[in-house]
Amino acid sequence: SIPTITLNSGHTIPQLGLGVWQAGNEETETAVRFAIDEAGYRHIDTAAAYGNEEGVGRGLAAASVPREDIFVTTKLWNADQGHDAALAAFDTSLNKLGLDYVDLYLIHWPLQDSERILRTWDALEEIAASGRARSIGVCNFEPHHLRLLVEAGKTLPAVDQVELHPHLTQPAVRSFAGDHGIAVESWSPLGGTSNSGWGKDSKPNTLLGDPIIARIADRHSKTPAQILIRWHLQNGLIVIPKSVHTERIAQNIDVFDFELDDLDLSEIATLDDGTRLGAHPDEMNLAAPE
Ligand code: A2P
Repeated sequence: SIPTITLNSGHTIPQLGLGVWQAGNEETETAVRFAIDEAGYRHIDTAAAYGNEEGVGRGLAAASVPREDIFVTTKLWNADQGHDAALAAFDTSLNKLGLDYVDLYLIHWPLQDSERILRTWDALEEIAASGRARSIGVCNFEPHHLRLLVEAGKTLPAVDQVELHPHLTQPAVRSFAGDHGIAVESWSPLGGTSNSGWGKDSKPNTLLGDPIIARIADRHSKTPAQILIRWHLQNGLIVIPKSVHTERIAQNIDVFDFELDDLDLSEIATLDDGTRLGAHPDEMNLAAPE
């Protein structure tokens, strides 16, 4: 079974989940149902900005596992930051998902406006108090954004979901988060897609074809994706690889019958070259693409 991490909210999160970024509603529905019923996933990660919360909701409804056994995350889009806007956007997300609560509600990006981040966070604290989000957290927060919440004496986020993979291991975020009891989730854990949606910043996936990863995969008779997923798990990270293909969805959870050893980990450690696939959090603003 999938290991869990206990969050600072007291709730537990399965350390491995299914990501659905860039999947349309129909393929999302199929992927979610398959992941839960056929592959054994118990954790789905979506966002309002992905445009597929309805597909996630239909997939959850079609699956035969009870709601309380699934961990569901969604995220607040940038344009909906601010206290009242966040409350309204959360209602919309719940409706689209067809749920009466989510397990985790995240601020998708920090805006370059500290006051607005704090008002948004107030709204998330209210949502948590109402029980409609079991845990609340953030995405793409750098230590200076997290410090804003610490210094304002707020409830600290249960998680910070950031771009994280062997090319971008995020030591500063992980150290700050670790010191404050915030769990770290990795997005684009496999190195993302060649069609990352960031226009001119779009970068091809160079991790799944990396020769070092391939050599380690050969040594374990596993695939490069499985090696990368193990790397996240063994680093204590929550990992949400995205796929809409059934054989890959199944492959990505078939990672509990082997372990990376010290040699593997030291070889992977040479890969951090700071390559970022998505936007830098300090450059995100309201006009940015989804
Ligand atoms: P697809 O959905 O077509 O399978 P991320 O790092 O954002 O999780 O990106 C995963 C990307 O890699 C997606 O484009 C996904 O595409 C692809 N992918 C997911 N699992 C595997 C796998 N096991 N082997 C190869 N590619 C994969």
